[in-house]
Amino acid sequence: MEKPREKLLLHNDAKELRIEELLSIILGHGTANINVYKLSEHLADFLRSKLNQQITIDDLTQFEGVGEAKAAQILSALELGRRFASNSIQKRLSDDNWDFADLKQSERQYGVHFFHHYTAKFIPQIPSKIIKQFAKSNDIVVDPFMGSGTALIEAKLLGCHSYGLDTNPLAVKIAKAKTMLMNETKAKEIDRFLEWVEKRKRYPDKASINSLEQDPFPVIKSWFRPDVAYKINLILNEINNYSPDVQNFLQIGLSTLLKGMSNARMDSVTPVLPENPIYTDKKHYYREVNNLTRKIPVYGRVYSQINRMKYAIMYLNKETDNKLVCKPIIGDARELSKHVKHCDLIVTSPPYWSAQNYARIHMLSFKIFDIKTEEGKEIGRVSTSYLDDMEIVFNQIASILKGHFALVIGEDIKKRSNERLFSIAQRIGFHHVDTVTRRISNQVSRAKQIKIEFIYIFRI
Ligand SMILES: C[S@@+](CC[C@H](N)C(=O)[O-])C[C@H]1O[C@@H](n2cnc3c(N)ncnc32)[C@H](O)[C@@H]1O
Repeated sequence: MEKPREKLLLHNDAKELRIEELLSIILGHGTANINVYKLSEHLADFLRSKLNQQITIDDLTQFEGVGEAKAAQILSALELGRRFASNSIQKRLSDDNWDFADLKQSERQYGVHFFHHYTAKFIPQIPSKIIKQFAKSNDIVVDPFMGSGTALIEAKLLGCHSYGLDTNPLAVKIAKAKTMLMNETKAKEIDRFLEWVEKRKRYPDKASINSLEQDPFPVIKSWFRPDVAYKINLILNEINNYSPDVQNFLQIGLSTLLKGMSNARMDSVTPVLPENPIYTDKKHYYREVNNLTRKIPVYGRVYSQINRMKYAIMYLNKETDNKLVCKPIIGDARELSKHVKHCDLIVTSPPYWSAQNYARIHMLSFKIFDIKTEEGKEIGRVSTSYLDDMEIVFNQIASILKGHFALVIGEDIKKRSNERLFSIAQRIGFHHVDTVTRRISNQVSRAKQIKIEFIYIFRI
C-alpha cells in the first residue's frame, strides 16, 4: 500500500487522498499502542459524526496519540478548509429557488430534451444548475442511472465530458439519439427520409392495407387501427434503408409517437386497450374518444417530429464541442467502475423502491423494435434487495469519484427510502454538504403522491 505522504507527492494532488490519509499526514506518527493509520481511522469516524458541529481541543485529545499540539494542527487544518470552501462556494445551492413551477412545457423540454417521453425524467434545469455549481470545463460528469440522458446533454452544453449507464435498452437508444454526432451525410439522410414521408403524405399509397396479413409485426395489428398499422409498417421498412445512427434517430422519433397513434387509452401511462373503441378520456377533460373514427395523421406527425428533432440535434452539434466525450452505455450501475474509471461529479436520480416498469410503459416500442431487457438487472423491481443494491452503487460511486455527488430523490413518506439512502451514503463516508428541498408541481410529479423532492449534495 502506498504511504499517504508518498501518494500525495506522487500524484501531486491532495484530492486523490482519502480523509484518513490526509489525517495521517497531519498526525505524522502514532504511538506504541496505536499506529497512525488506525488512529486516523478513529479520528475520521469521529469528525464525520460531528459534521457542522463545534470540535474542541478537548474532543481531540481524548484520542490516545493526540496531544495538544496535534489537536491544534488538526483544528487549524479543518478551519483552513472551512474558510476556503465557504469562499469558493459563493452561494449554496439550497439558497436558490428550485421550484420551476412557472416553467412552460417547452422550457422543460428545450433543445433535444423533447425527443422522447420518459417517466421520472429530470427537468433539465436541475442537472444544469448542479453541473454549473460543481464542475468546470472538461470535467467528467457521470449519471449511473442515466434514463433518457438529460444529465449527459446538460454536461455537454456546459463543456463537460459525460458518461451515463442504464440497464434499459430503450433509455440508451433515446440517449444515443439525443447525443448523436452530426455530419453532412447524416443530415442528408434525415432529409431523404423527410422527403419520403412528405411524398407519402401527399400521394397516399394505393396498395391495399390487406398486405398487413403478411405483416411481420403482429403487435401492430392488435394495438393499431389497420390504416395506422399499415403506415407505421411502411415507415419501419423505410427506416431500414439508413445508416445505423440515423436509423436509431428515426426509430426514436417514431417510438415516442406510438402510444398516441395506437388504440391505447389516452388516460393511462402504461398502454391498455379500452373495453370499447368509444371511451371517455379521464385525463383530458373527460372528452369522448372514438378510436374508429379519430384523425391519426401518421405521416404528418412523423414528419413534424423528425423535422423538429433534426433542427434540435443540428443546433446542439453546432453549439457544443464535438470533441467532448458524451457516452450513453448499456450497463448496470452496480458495475459502474467497469465502465468509468474516474469522474469529477455524479448527478443522478435513482430508481425508486417500487421502480417504474419501463418495459411495460414502453411495451409498444419494445415489441416493435424487438428490444429485450435482461431480467433482474433493474434496481427497485425486487424490493427486498433495493437498499443493498443501492449500497453497492454508492460504493461504486465512491471508488471513482473525486468531487461532488448530487442525489435527486423524491420524498418517500411510507418507506423513508430517501432518508435511508442518505444514511447509507454517510455510512460509506460521503460528507453531506447541502440539501435542496423542492416542491414538485403537479405537471412533473413522478407519481402523484410525491410532492417534495430532495437534492442531497455530498462530497467524497
Ligand atoms: C429515475 S430514472 C432516471 C431518469 C433520468 N434522470 C432522466 O432524466 O431521464 C432511473 C433509471 O435507472 C435505471 N436503472 C434501474 N436499475 C439500474 C441499474 N441496475 N443500472 C443502471 N440503471 C438502472 C432505470 O432504467 C431508469 O432509467
